[in-house]
Amino acid sequence: MGEDNADELRELGEQLQDASTVLQVQEIRNAWLGRKGIITARLKGVALLPVEERRQAGQQWNSVRLAIETMIDDALARLQNQEEILQLEQERLDMTIPGIEPAVALLHPLTRVRRLVEDVFLRMGFTLSYGPEVESEWYNFEALNIPPNHPARDMQDSFFVDIPNLVLRTHTSPVQIRGMQAAAGQLPVKIIAPGRVYRRDDDPTHTPMFHQIEGLVVDHKISLADLQGTLLAMTKDLLGSDIRTRFRPSYFPFTEPSMEVDVTCAACNGTGCRVCKGTGWVEILGSGMVHPVVLRNGGYDPKQVTGFAFGLGIERLAMRIFELDDLRLLYQNDLEFLSRFSRYTGRPAL
Ligand code: DAH
Repeated sequence: MGEDNADELRELGEQLQDASTVLQVQEIRNAWLGRKGIITARLKGVALLPVEERRQAGQQWNSVRLAIETMIDDALARLQNQEEILQLEQERLDMTIPGIEPAVALLHPLTRVRRLVEDVFLRMGFTLSYGPEVESEWYNFEALNIPPNHPARDMQDSFFVDIPNLVLRTHTSPVQIRGMQAAAGQLPVKIIAPGRVYRRDDDPTHTPMFHQIEGLVVDHKISLADLQGTLLAMTKDLLGSDIRTRFRPSYFPFTEPSMEVDVTCAACNGTGCRVCKGTGWVEILGSGMVHPVVLRNGGYDPKQVTGFAFGLGIERLAMRIFELDDLRLLYQNDLEFLSRFSRYTGRPAL
Protein backbone atom coordinates (compact mmCIF):
# COMPACT_ATOMS: atom_id res chain seq x y z
CA MET A 1 0.00 0.00 0.00
CA GLY A 2 1.47 3.32 -1.00
CA GLU A 3 1.91 6.50 1.00
CA ASP A 4 -1.20 8.12 -0.56
CA ASN A 5 -3.37 5.19 0.58
CA ALA A 6 -2.24 5.69 4.15
CA ASP A 7 -3.26 9.35 3.86
CA GLU A 8 -6.64 8.38 2.59
CA LEU A 9 -7.21 5.92 5.40
CA ARG A 10 -6.17 8.52 7.92
CA GLU A 11 -8.58 11.00 6.43
CA LEU A 12 -11.37 8.47 6.52
CA GLY A 13 -10.51 7.68 10.12
CA GLU A 14 -10.89 11.35 10.99
CA GLN A 15 -14.21 11.64 9.20
CA LEU A 16 -15.51 8.63 11.03
CA GLN A 17 -14.34 10.00 14.34
CA ASP A 18 -16.31 13.18 13.71
CA ALA A 19 -19.44 11.32 12.71
CA SER A 20 -21.94 11.17 15.54
CA THR A 21 -24.90 9.49 13.90
CA VAL A 22 -25.49 6.35 11.88
CA LEU A 23 -26.78 8.54 9.10
CA GLN A 24 -23.53 10.48 8.88
CA VAL A 25 -21.54 7.25 8.63
CA GLN A 26 -23.82 6.09 5.87
CA GLU A 27 -23.10 9.32 4.00
CA ILE A 28 -19.38 8.77 4.48
CA ARG A 29 -19.73 5.26 3.13
CA ASN A 30 -21.44 6.66 0.08
CA ALA A 31 -18.73 9.23 -0.47
CA TRP A 32 -16.04 6.55 -0.38
CA LEU A 33 -17.61 3.38 -1.65
CA GLY A 34 -20.76 4.56 -3.45
CA ARG A 35 -21.18 4.55 -7.19
CA LYS A 36 -19.42 7.91 -7.46
CA GLY A 37 -17.22 7.33 -4.44
CA ILE A 38 -13.51 8.06 -4.15
CA ILE A 39 -12.46 4.40 -4.03
CA THR A 40 -14.86 3.40 -6.78
CA ALA A 41 -13.25 6.03 -9.00
CA ARG A 42 -9.80 4.72 -8.11
CA LEU A 43 -10.79 1.19 -8.95
CA LYS A 44 -12.18 2.35 -12.26
CA GLY A 45 -8.90 4.20 -12.88
CA VAL A 46 -7.04 0.89 -12.60
CA ALA A 47 -8.51 -0.20 -15.91
CA LEU A 48 -6.75 2.69 -17.60
CA LEU A 49 -3.29 1.73 -16.34
CA PRO A 50 -0.80 -0.06 -18.53
CA VAL A 51 -1.37 -3.81 -18.50
CA GLU A 52 1.76 -4.57 -16.41
CA GLU A 53 0.62 -2.34 -13.57
CA ARG A 54 -3.04 -3.29 -13.49
CA ARG A 55 -2.79 -6.46 -11.47
CA GLN A 56 -0.80 -4.97 -8.64
CA ALA A 57 -2.78 -1.73 -8.57
CA GLY A 58 -6.06 -3.68 -8.63
CA GLN A 59 -5.03 -5.80 -5.67
CA GLN A 60 -3.85 -2.77 -3.81
CA TRP A 61 -7.06 -0.80 -4.23
CA ASN A 62 -9.11 -3.81 -3.38
CA SER A 63 -7.37 -4.25 -0.08
CA VAL A 64 -7.80 -0.53 0.59
CA ARG A 65 -11.48 -0.97 -0.07
CA LEU A 66 -11.67 -3.89 2.37
CA ALA A 67 -9.88 -1.87 5.03
CA ILE A 68 -12.30 1.00 4.47
CA GLU A 69 -15.29 -1.29 4.72
CA THR A 70 -14.03 -2.68 8.00
CA MET A 71 -13.49 0.81 9.41
CA ILE A 72 -16.93 1.92 8.36
CA ASP A 73 -18.57 -1.22 9.75
CA ASP A 74 -16.83 -0.72 13.07
CA ALA A 75 -17.95 2.90 13.22
CA LEU A 76 -21.50 1.86 12.37
CA ALA A 77 -21.57 -0.81 15.06
CA ARG A 78 -20.27 1.65 17.64
CA LEU A 79 -22.86 4.30 16.77
CA GLN A 80 -25.74 1.87 16.51
CA ASN A 81 -24.90 0.66 19.97
CA GLN A 82 -24.75 4.23 21.26
CA GLU A 83 -28.03 5.15 19.62
CA GLU A 84 -29.70 2.10 21.13
CA ILE A 85 -28.49 3.00 24.58
CA LEU A 86 -29.68 6.55 24.07
CA GLN A 87 -33.08 5.34 22.90
CA LEU A 88 -33.38 3.02 25.90
CA GLU A 89 -32.50 5.93 28.15
CA GLN A 90 -35.19 8.08 26.57
CA GLU A 91 -37.80 5.35 26.71
CA ARG A 92 -37.02 4.42 30.29
CA LEU A 93 -40.16 3.13 32.08
CA ASP A 94 -40.82 3.94 35.69
CA MET A 95 -42.28 0.68 36.93
CA THR A 96 -43.09 2.21 40.31
CA ILE A 97 -45.72 4.64 39.03
CA PRO A 98 -49.11 3.32 40.23
CA GLY A 99 -51.31 1.96 37.44
CA ILE A 100 -54.58 3.47 36.34
CA GLU A 101 -57.47 1.54 37.82
CA PRO A 102 -59.85 0.70 34.98
CA ALA A 103 -63.44 1.80 35.42
CA VAL A 104 -64.66 -1.53 34.09
CA ALA A 105 -63.86 -5.15 34.82
CA LEU A 106 -65.06 -5.54 38.38
CA LEU A 107 -64.58 -8.96 39.85
CA HIS A 108 -67.82 -10.89 40.06
CA PRO A 109 -68.92 -11.36 43.68
CA LEU A 110 -68.52 -15.12 43.30
CA THR A 111 -64.94 -14.69 42.07
CA ARG A 112 -64.31 -12.42 45.00
CA VAL A 113 -65.64 -14.94 47.51
CA ARG A 114 -63.78 -17.82 45.87
CA ARG A 115 -60.51 -15.91 46.05
CA LEU A 116 -61.12 -15.02 49.69
CA VAL A 117 -61.67 -18.66 50.59
CA GLU A 118 -58.64 -19.74 48.55
CA ASP A 119 -56.60 -17.11 50.32
CA VAL A 120 -57.59 -18.41 53.77
CA PHE A 121 -56.53 -21.96 52.89
CA LEU A 122 -53.39 -21.00 50.97
CA ARG A 123 -52.25 -19.20 54.11
CA MET A 124 -52.85 -22.45 56.03
CA GLY A 125 -50.51 -24.27 53.64
CA PHE A 126 -53.03 -25.86 51.27
CA THR A 127 -52.29 -25.99 47.55
CA LEU A 128 -54.76 -25.61 44.68
CA SER A 129 -55.88 -28.65 42.73
CA TYR A 130 -58.24 -28.98 39.77
CA GLY A 131 -60.31 -31.68 38.10
CA PRO A 132 -62.43 -31.91 34.94
CA GLU A 133 -66.04 -30.70 34.84
CA VAL A 134 -67.03 -33.61 32.61
CA GLU A 135 -66.13 -36.42 34.95
CA SER A 136 -66.27 -40.18 34.84
CA GLU A 137 -68.96 -41.82 36.91
CA TRP A 138 -66.21 -43.71 38.71
CA TYR A 139 -64.55 -40.55 40.04
CA ASN A 140 -67.83 -38.76 40.67
CA PHE A 141 -69.57 -41.68 42.42
CA GLU A 142 -67.97 -45.14 42.84
CA ALA A 143 -64.57 -43.95 44.01
CA LEU A 144 -66.35 -41.85 46.62
CA ASN A 145 -68.19 -44.88 47.98
CA ILE A 146 -71.40 -44.02 46.17
CA PRO A 147 -72.19 -47.36 44.40
CA PRO A 148 -74.57 -47.66 41.41
CA ASN A 149 -78.17 -47.55 42.66
CA HIS A 150 -77.17 -45.84 45.87
CA PRO A 151 -79.87 -43.31 46.77
CA ALA A 152 -77.21 -40.57 46.89
CA ARG A 153 -77.03 -40.78 43.10
CA ASP A 154 -80.64 -39.86 42.95
CA MET A 155 -80.13 -37.08 45.46
CA GLN A 156 -77.45 -35.62 43.25
CA ASP A 157 -79.79 -35.36 40.27
CA SER A 158 -77.01 -35.54 37.75
CA PHE A 159 -76.68 -34.32 34.19
CA PHE A 160 -75.50 -37.37 32.30
CA VAL A 161 -73.53 -36.97 29.09
CA ASP A 162 -74.36 -38.87 25.89
CA ILE A 163 -71.05 -40.67 26.12
CA PRO A 164 -71.45 -43.67 28.48
CA ASN A 165 -70.00 -43.40 32.00
CA LEU A 166 -69.60 -39.64 31.89
CA VAL A 167 -71.45 -37.00 33.95
CA LEU A 168 -71.14 -33.29 34.53
CA ARG A 169 -69.59 -33.53 37.96
CA THR A 170 -72.17 -33.04 40.68
CA HIS A 171 -69.61 -31.94 43.25
CA THR A 172 -65.89 -31.17 43.54
CA SER A 173 -65.35 -34.29 45.66
CA PRO A 174 -63.89 -36.33 42.74
CA VAL A 175 -60.85 -34.07 43.01
CA GLN A 176 -60.22 -35.75 46.38
CA ILE A 177 -59.47 -38.98 44.52
CA ARG A 178 -57.54 -37.25 41.74
CA GLY A 179 -55.55 -35.24 44.28
CA MET A 180 -54.59 -38.35 46.25
CA GLN A 181 -53.64 -40.19 43.06
CA ALA A 182 -51.51 -37.25 41.95
CA ALA A 183 -49.76 -37.17 45.33
CA ALA A 184 -48.91 -40.84 44.73
CA GLY A 185 -48.51 -41.87 48.35
CA GLN A 186 -46.71 -38.72 49.50
CA LEU A 187 -47.79 -37.09 52.76
CA PRO A 188 -49.38 -34.83 53.68
CA VAL A 189 -52.05 -34.38 51.03
CA LYS A 190 -53.37 -30.90 51.70
CA ILE A 191 -55.39 -29.51 48.84
CA ILE A 192 -58.34 -27.30 48.01
CA ALA A 193 -60.17 -27.73 44.72
CA PRO A 194 -62.41 -24.90 43.52
CA GLY A 195 -64.65 -25.25 40.50
CA ARG A 196 -68.01 -25.46 38.80
CA VAL A 197 -70.45 -28.27 39.52
CA TYR A 198 -73.79 -29.19 37.97
CA ARG A 199 -77.12 -30.48 39.27
CA ARG A 200 -80.62 -30.55 37.94
CA ASP A 201 -81.96 -27.93 40.33
CA ASP A 202 -83.45 -24.51 39.67
CA ASP A 203 -85.09 -22.39 42.36
CA PRO A 204 -84.25 -19.29 44.45
CA THR A 205 -81.51 -21.13 46.36
CA HIS A 206 -80.36 -23.56 43.62
CA THR A 207 -79.00 -23.04 40.10
CA PRO A 208 -78.15 -25.88 37.67
CA MET A 209 -74.52 -24.74 37.68
CA PHE A 210 -72.87 -23.56 40.85
CA HIS A 211 -69.47 -23.48 42.53
CA GLN A 212 -67.83 -25.43 45.30
CA ILE A 213 -64.49 -25.57 46.99
CA GLU A 214 -63.40 -28.98 48.11
CA GLY A 215 -60.82 -29.46 50.81
CA LEU A 216 -58.84 -32.57 51.67
CA VAL A 217 -56.15 -33.30 54.22
CA VAL A 218 -54.57 -36.73 54.54
CA ASP A 219 -51.73 -37.49 56.92
CA HIS A 220 -50.82 -39.56 59.97
CA LYS A 221 -53.18 -39.00 62.91
CA ILE A 222 -55.52 -36.46 61.35
CA SER A 223 -58.53 -36.13 63.65
CA LEU A 224 -61.95 -34.58 63.82
CA ALA A 225 -60.38 -31.89 66.03
CA ASP A 226 -58.13 -30.91 63.11
CA LEU A 227 -61.20 -30.63 60.90
CA GLN A 228 -63.09 -28.51 63.39
CA GLY A 229 -60.10 -26.28 64.11
CA THR A 230 -59.50 -25.70 60.41
CA LEU A 231 -63.12 -24.86 59.69
CA LEU A 232 -63.43 -22.58 62.72
CA ALA A 233 -60.33 -20.69 61.61
CA MET A 234 -61.89 -20.35 58.18
CA THR A 235 -65.30 -19.09 59.33
CA LYS A 236 -63.72 -16.55 61.67
CA ASP A 237 -61.33 -15.38 58.99
CA LEU A 238 -64.07 -15.00 56.39
CA LEU A 239 -66.99 -13.80 58.47
CA GLY A 240 -65.38 -12.10 61.46
CA SER A 241 -64.47 -13.29 64.93
CA ASP A 242 -68.01 -12.71 66.25
CA ILE A 243 -69.43 -15.35 63.98
CA ARG A 244 -71.00 -18.36 65.66
CA THR A 245 -70.50 -21.75 64.05
CA ARG A 246 -72.51 -24.93 64.57
CA PHE A 247 -71.38 -28.46 63.74
CA ARG A 248 -74.31 -30.78 63.00
CA PRO A 249 -74.06 -34.56 62.52
CA SER A 250 -74.94 -35.55 58.98
CA TYR A 251 -74.41 -38.30 56.44
CA PHE A 252 -72.26 -38.50 53.32
CA PRO A 253 -71.17 -41.82 51.78
CA PHE A 254 -67.56 -40.60 51.47
CA THR A 255 -67.06 -39.52 55.09
CA GLU A 256 -67.52 -41.24 58.43
CA PRO A 257 -68.44 -39.56 60.67
CA SER A 258 -69.95 -36.71 58.68
CA MET A 259 -71.12 -33.29 59.71
CA GLU A 260 -72.55 -30.13 58.28
CA VAL A 261 -71.46 -26.67 59.30
CA ASP A 262 -73.86 -23.79 59.86
CA VAL A 263 -73.05 -20.18 60.64
CA THR A 264 -75.32 -17.53 62.10
CA CYS A 265 -77.53 -15.85 59.54
CA ALA A 266 -76.18 -12.46 58.48
CA ALA A 267 -79.60 -11.03 57.69
CA CYS A 268 -81.00 -11.45 61.21
CA ASN A 269 -77.86 -12.11 63.23
CA GLY A 270 -79.26 -15.42 64.38
CA THR A 271 -82.69 -14.38 65.55
CA GLY A 272 -84.52 -16.03 62.65
CA CYS A 273 -85.79 -14.48 59.42
CA ARG A 274 -86.87 -15.27 55.86
CA VAL A 275 -83.28 -15.82 54.65
CA CYS A 276 -82.60 -18.54 57.23
CA LYS A 277 -86.18 -19.79 57.20
CA GLY A 278 -86.59 -18.78 60.81
CA THR A 279 -83.77 -20.95 62.15
CA GLY A 280 -81.11 -18.27 62.66
CA TRP A 281 -78.55 -20.51 60.90
CA VAL A 282 -77.39 -21.00 57.31
CA GLU A 283 -75.57 -24.09 56.15
CA ILE A 284 -72.29 -23.42 54.36
CA LEU A 285 -70.57 -26.78 53.99
CA GLY A 286 -70.52 -30.55 54.37
CA SER A 287 -67.54 -32.32 55.84
CA GLY A 288 -66.25 -35.33 57.71
CA MET A 289 -63.48 -37.83 58.24
CA VAL A 290 -62.50 -39.42 54.93
CA HIS A 291 -64.08 -42.87 54.54
CA PRO A 292 -61.54 -45.76 54.43
CA VAL A 293 -62.85 -46.82 51.03
CA VAL A 294 -62.13 -43.35 49.67
CA LEU A 295 -58.59 -43.36 51.07
CA ARG A 296 -58.00 -46.76 49.48
CA ASN A 297 -59.33 -45.56 46.12
CA GLY A 298 -56.91 -42.66 46.31
CA GLY A 299 -54.03 -45.07 46.86
CA TYR A 300 -53.62 -44.64 50.62
CA ASP A 301 -53.77 -47.26 53.37
CA PRO A 302 -56.52 -46.39 55.88
CA LYS A 303 -54.60 -48.33 58.54
CA GLN A 304 -51.66 -45.94 58.16
CA VAL A 305 -53.32 -42.58 57.56
CA THR A 306 -56.53 -40.69 58.21
CA GLY A 307 -57.98 -37.59 56.65
CA PHE A 308 -60.67 -34.99 56.70
CA ALA A 309 -62.58 -33.44 53.83
CA PHE A 310 -65.06 -30.70 53.28
CA GLY A 311 -67.11 -29.27 50.45
CA LEU A 312 -68.11 -25.65 50.61
CA GLY A 313 -70.76 -23.96 48.47
CA ILE A 314 -69.39 -20.67 47.16
CA GLU A 315 -72.87 -19.33 46.32
CA ARG A 316 -74.07 -20.19 49.81
CA LEU A 317 -71.19 -18.32 51.32
CA ALA A 318 -71.71 -15.36 48.97
CA MET A 319 -75.39 -15.25 49.97
CA ARG A 320 -74.32 -15.25 53.60
CA ILE A 321 -71.70 -12.55 53.09
CA PHE A 322 -73.78 -10.29 50.85
CA GLU A 323 -77.10 -11.07 52.55
CA LEU A 324 -78.84 -12.19 49.39
CA ASP A 325 -82.07 -14.13 49.48
CA ASP A 326 -82.13 -15.05 45.80
CA LEU A 327 -79.09 -16.79 44.42
CA ARG A 328 -80.20 -16.22 40.84
CA LEU A 329 -79.38 -12.50 41.13
CA LEU A 330 -75.74 -13.51 40.85
CA TYR A 331 -76.31 -14.86 37.36
CA GLN A 332 -78.34 -12.10 35.72
CA ASN A 333 -75.38 -9.93 34.73
CA ASP A 334 -77.01 -6.86 36.18
CA LEU A 335 -74.01 -4.56 36.49
CA GLU A 336 -75.73 -2.23 38.92
CA PHE A 337 -76.41 -5.14 41.23
CA LEU A 338 -73.02 -6.79 40.81
CA SER A 339 -71.03 -3.60 41.36
CA ARG A 340 -72.68 -3.11 44.76
CA PHE A 341 -70.25 -5.68 46.11
CA SER A 342 -67.16 -4.48 44.28
CA ARG A 343 -65.60 -2.84 47.31
CA TYR A 344 -65.94 -5.86 49.56
CA THR A 345 -62.51 -6.83 50.83
CA GLY A 346 -63.56 -9.74 52.96
CA ARG A 347 -62.21 -8.40 56.21
CA PRO A 348 -65.35 -7.76 58.26
CA ALA A 349 -63.32 -6.56 61.23
CA LEU A 350 -61.70 -3.74 59.26
N1 DAH B 1 -69.78 -33.34 47.97
C1 DAH B 1 -70.80 -32.90 48.92
C2 DAH B 1 -71.91 -32.23 48.18
O1 DAH B 1 -71.73 -31.81 47.08
C3 DAH B 1 -70.22 -31.94 49.90
C4 DAH B 1 -69.25 -32.59 50.81
C5 DAH B 1 -69.67 -33.16 51.97
C6 DAH B 1 -67.92 -32.61 50.49
C7 DAH B 1 -68.81 -33.78 52.83
C8 DAH B 1 -67.01 -33.23 51.34
C9 DAH B 1 -67.48 -33.81 52.51
O2 DAH B 1 -65.72 -33.28 51.09
O3 DAH B 1 -66.59 -34.38 53.35
O4 DAH B 1 -72.98 -32.09 48.72
